[in-house]
Amino acid sequence: MGELVAGVDSSTQSCKVVVRDAESGELVRSGRAAHPDGTEIEPKHWWAALQQALDEAGGLAEVAAVSVAGQQHGMVCLDETGEVVRPALLWNDTRSAPAAAALVEELGAQAWADATGTVPVASITVSKLRWLAEHEPANAARTAAVCLPHDWLTWHLAGSGELDALVTDRSDASGTGYFDASSGEYRRDLLRLGLGRDDVVLPRVLGPTESVEGPRFRLGPGAGDNAGAALGLGAGDDVVVSLGTSGVVSARGDRQGTDPTGTIAGFADATGAFLPLVVTLNAARVLDAAARLLGVDHTELSRLALSAPPGAEGLTLVPYLEGERTPNLPDSTGAIHGMTLANATPANLARAAIEGMLSGQKAGVDALAAVGVHAHEIMLIGGAARSEAVRRIAPTVFGVPVVVPEPGEYVADGAARQAAWVLSDGAEPPRWASGTSERYDGDLTDGLEERYREAAEKYLPRLGR
Ligand code: XUL
Repeated sequence: MGELVAGVDSSTQSCKVVVRDAESGELVRSGRAAHPDGTEIEPKHWWAALQQALDEAGGLAEVAAVSVAGQQHGMVCLDETGEVVRPALLWNDTRSAPAAAALVEELGAQAWADATGTVPVASITVSKLRWLAEHEPANAARTAAVCLPHDWLTWHLAGSGELDALVTDRSDASGTGYFDASSGEYRRDLLRLGLGRDDVVLPRVLGPTESVEGPRFRLGPGAGDNAGAALGLGAGDDVVVSLGTSGVVSARGDRQGTDPTGTIAGFADATGAFLPLVVTLNAARVLDAAARLLGVDHTELSRLALSAPPGAEGLTLVPYLEGERTPNLPDSTGAIHGMTLANATPANLARAAIEGMLSGQKAGVDALAAVGVHAHEIMLIGGAARSEAVRRIAPTVFGVPVVVPEPGEYVADGAARQAAWVLSDGAEPPRWASGTSERYDGDLTDGLEERYREAAEKYLPRLGR
């Protein structure tokens, strides 16, 4: 066995660690620990979960390099002594929606898209900073540094405790709303627009193979989770649909792209390129809700859904259960349309939940197609891709074949691959063998897209259209 590397995925719901052989990528050990629920969280819980996951993965004693990937956008404010000012507000906390709307109103959507590749919504860090400045001015005044979840964990692993030792990477910085990934520069004017001041420390942005010194190992730049997954999958130019807590449709590209409608976020990836993506707040947990409603587990939900005909006999579920980010409807709720005495069956409801969740993602696939990124097949990952029904129904909603790589911790794997790249310092990330995948075909379901669009369009007046 050669040198070992570790990759961490500090996600919304849990922390995962993989330890792999740097050269071959072979999995040596792994661990995981849960995070508390909620859309605001004390960062110390991330640290405790990381320690627990690392213990389960046999610790870092023989590991030469570590990279941390994590949930994007979370606002972590530190005071002068490095203490956390208030619990972190996470990407899926929607209280910052009015702040986001005000920021867009003040600067204009096109100007935001040109400056940062992204039009702020509630998830974006700059919106959370505006919320802080307005609602907790004392906390805003105490803030001496702002960083993201993965930056905070990297900083703790490095252990210096100095604010100017904070580092981040392009992919996660590109989700803050005050970083221009095309030039590689922070936009302190936009930070000031959010926080009301710009005299705070921001993490130094490391290049894809740069690193800092940890206690006994190198620490790579880390990544936002979506960029981490793309690196872990070796996704190339494929369109990837990730069905986790969030639903993410993404594809690697050479240009940032600017979408003033805000549908496509022009984020950076972890290799020096770009990763335009479309994010919904509602994905895997739509299935949790449907299973709860039907009083069944996920296996039964899948069986029920597959026993219903395509299109669920006209039952349509709009899955905005947590409000929605794309389309930007933070206060919306979900709905079931088209219910009749004849179609009101558990099987149709199960199928409508899956078709609705996937239709929400299809809107993202279509948005990428509209800017020339066409999906000839789709790579499907994330917790909900483990469901047999989701795999089989996906091609009938997307209208193209779906490829499902074997289930894995792709974000943590991407972080581990980055750590190996830091050690090799080559022009490309090390080539690791990829696992097997399964391919699913199916005919597009007649009328489903129109029916879903009609149901979803009932929300459009709230978008001001
Ligand atoms: C991306 C986003 C989510 C989180 C989930 O913009 O908000 O995918 O990164 O962890």
